[in-house]
Amino acid sequence: MNNKIIIINGPNLNLLGEREQSQYGSDNYEQLKENCIKKSKEIGLNCEFIQSNLEGDLVNKIQDARKNYDGMIINAAAFTHTSVAIRDALELFKKPIIEMHISNIYKREEFRHKSLISGVATGGIFGLGTEGYILAIISLQKLLKNENR
Ligand code: DQA
Repeated sequence: MNNKIIIINGPNLNLLGEREQSQYGSDNYEQLKENCIKKSKEIGLNCEFIQSNLEGDLVNKIQDARKNYDGMIINAAAFTHTSVAIRDALELFKKPIIEMHISNIYKREEFRHKSLISGVATGGIFGLGTEGYILAIISLQKLLKNENR
């Protein structure tokens, strides 16, 4: 059976393609979603791709993911830098987690240099544009394949 992964996106990522193209590129949210689902299928993963602007909603999604998914990619967007609640929910997900950022958060304003979620993630990708999601999917597939050996 295919492994199931979930890609969770935080606030304002629904406006990709429209917001700060110099940081986030020109792909819009729907294109990114389509590319991620396509790549996942190609390498034998079932992928759900979701977005919310609400912190509590993201916490609920992460909690529910415990029961239904084998791995997670999360771009918590601005909540990366502020949300203890999202960090605590991620800690309960005892499976591989990849932290994703489109931009290089360490090259930007100082308030973006701190991630509350890196400490509970398996690994992370930042600064490689939306292509980073594809790299994260490939990495997650490898992590899950090694687990199932
Ligand atoms: C982001 C970086 C965050 O600092 C920012 O608030 C975002 C997107 C990224 O993908 O580069 O919304 O997570």
